[in-house]
Amino acid sequence: MPKKLLVIIGVTGNQGGSVASRFSQDPNYRIRGLTRNPASPTAKALSARGIEILHADLDDRESLIRAFSGANLIFSVTNYWEPFFRPDSRRRAANAGISPRRYAYNIELRQGKNIVDAAARTVDSLDDNGLIASTLSHGRKCSGGRLNELYHFDAKADVFPRYVRDKYPGLARKMSCVQMGYFMSSWKLVPELWFGRLPDGTIQMRFPTSPDAPVPHVDVNADTGNFVYAISKLPPGRSYMAAGSMCSWSEYMHLWSKINRVPASYKQISVEDMVNALPDKEYARELADMFIYSSDPGYDGGDGSLWGADEIREAGVDCPTTSLEEWMRKQDWSAVTGRSQRKQSVARSG
Ligand SMILES: NC(=O)c1ccc[n+]([C@@H]2O[C@H](COP(=O)([O-])OP(=O)(O)OC[C@H]3O[C@@H](n4cnc5c(N)ncnc54)[C@H](OP(=O)(O)O)[C@@H]3O)[C@@H](O)[C@H]2O)c1
Repeated sequence: MPKKLLVIIGVTGNQGGSVASRFSQDPNYRIRGLTRNPASPTAKALSARGIEILHADLDDRESLIRAFSGANLIFSVTNYWEPFFRPDSRRRAANAGISPRRYAYNIELRQGKNIVDAAARTVDSLDDNGLIASTLSHGRKCSGGRLNELYHFDAKADVFPRYVRDKYPGLARKMSCVQMGYFMSSWKLVPELWFGRLPDGTIQMRFPTSPDAPVPHVDVNADTGNFVYAISKLPPGRSYMAAGSMCSWSEYMHLWSKINRVPASYKQISVEDMVNALPDKEYARELADMFIYSSDPGYDGGDGSLWGADEIREAGVDCPTTSLEEWMRKQDWSAVTGRSQRKQSVARSG
């Protein structure tokens, strides 16, 4: 039997890399990974593992049409944060008379539409469940218009599923959407927010999310591929939440404190407090809106129809996940605790 062709966007990144690792274990697939830089060390390492590496750019629809040609399955991911943080973005946003947050929304939206327009050109070659898209819930709609600048959520949801359903019903019938939980690794992006040190030496997490609101946590590198692989075995048309644990931030800190034997707490702060705590005010507002949204209506927009790993397993498909505790126990927390990794292990075991 000829092998199925899986095309992975973002193969050099967290989500796409995880998808490549999982499908590499299935000899029924050959994998084509897309990158803007086939000469990068990551791309070369993937190529050495037998993955076909192809140049493509999400800003260049023709390159995507070529890359998707004959695909049985496409994994799609877009990256809001790259245009947000690119050094020229602030100037370009100012020239366009829009905020940097809106500027990054426009680019992520455009790139998402390019993916969809190109995937629609090969809709006949796609499997019944042939487009699996990484996305998030729609902040503006799900908050009833209260949060109308949660751009890194809306840029995804405006395309996956909205644009696909509006413009390509045939492609929409072959699509599944997977919302990604909070990456467990995200604390490294803003450690001072996740693990601030108080004057008494204890550690405190400070977000605008209510202390008892459950939020999804996912080990993006280990488990994205497990979810996408499992979803590919199920019928299309459903939306999923990729998470290994659901727990509140105060439960998160309780667990972290227990594992590291360091006193730690969670404190809900106001949006303004969070904005004051970070030097980049645009970044702080985008994050603060996400943390507010995570309380009400919830990170998933309050959508009770999403399937998680439990529902996938109940449908008879394996979906291994990493719990927050398993992930925390594997991390080197010495940068936060101030202890060497060896002393940390002794503290944990003793
Ligand atoms: N952090 C969280 O907690 C969290 C939670 C849920 C969702 N998310 C979302 O996750 C997304 C980031 O995903 P990630 O962490 O997997 O990304 P990542 O590790 O930063 O990798 C980004 C990937 O996208 C590719 N890429 C970027 N721009 C491209 C372009 N113009 N053309 C072709 N390829 C392009 C890059 O490829 P090359 O550089 O090789 O070209 C790279 O493989 C963001 O949109 C974020 O909103 C994050």
